Amino acid sequence: MYKQLQQRGMDSPPVNVASLGEMKERGEPIACLTAYDASFAQLVDVAGSDIVLVGDSLGMVIQGHDTTVPVTVDDVIYHARCVATGIVRAFLIADMPFMSYTTPHQALENAVRLMQEGGAMMVKLEGGQGQVEVVSYLARHDIPVCAHLGLKPQSVHKIGGFRVQGREADSERRMVEDARALEEAGADIVLLECVPNRIGRLVSDAVDVPVIGIGAGPDVDGQILVLYDVLGITRGRTPRFVRNFMTGQDSPLDALESYVRAVKEREYPAEEHCFA
Ligand code: KIV
Repeated sequence: MYKQLQQRGMDSPPVNVASLGEMKERGEPIACLTAYDASFAQLVDVAGSDIVLVGDSLGMVIQGHDTTVPVTVDDVIYHARCVATGIVRAFLIADMPFMSYTTPHQALENAVRLMQEGGAMMVKLEGGQGQVEVVSYLARHDIPVCAHLGLKPQSVHKIGGFRVQGREADSERRMVEDARALEEAGADIVLLECVPNRIGRLVSDAVDVPVIGIGAGPDVDGQILVLYDVLGITRGRTPRFVRNFMTGQDSPLDALESYVRAVKEREYPAEEHCFA
């Protein structure tokens, strides 16, 4: 009860939108991880991750699908509710699944469910300027929003695979314009996936809100990885930006602490994790 107020004076008070903005201002990298259940969420929180994302990647790493497309709002709510019970300090973001935000009204209804039933503090949705109307409708109703740009996994069947984005002519300008338009519409965070380093740098410089990267190079305001990739659980080929932090560690908690430290000290991502 009243966890946020009671912990405000502690050494590590709960993370919120304002403190994330302050981290960007003072140049402190924001460490983020996904989680899908209470036990791992607790480890991620104790390890010092600033943000925990209940990503629709759960469709792949929990449900075993090839893509995130089959994930439903009820699935995310179930996993978000589990994660919410495991965290004390981290800021909890939940993904809006495929086709759950096709109109402003539908987006608001589903975002409210993710917050009220799942315990999310912010919702994440994929899309560029096409989502400005939805983002501004959510923002007008005080729903915190993270806008996911670059590689948008929910569009995998439209774009023909999981591939690096932003290599086409004019894409730098378009991505910067998308990020600016979404920030103006009220987005509180931008997440940028699988783009060349220079796009990460340009987008982070172009907006005041924090830009969290996954395969977006070192010059963004924070990093996120899928938990199962960090712990080396994922079998087979993984994306170039993945690093297995379990290597050389004795426990999952050691590995997660090593990830948070590597992000905070800007050791991760290294050159071999980046796209040119
Ligand atoms: O669904 C997810 O886990 C994500 C991350 C890969 C950023 O969107």
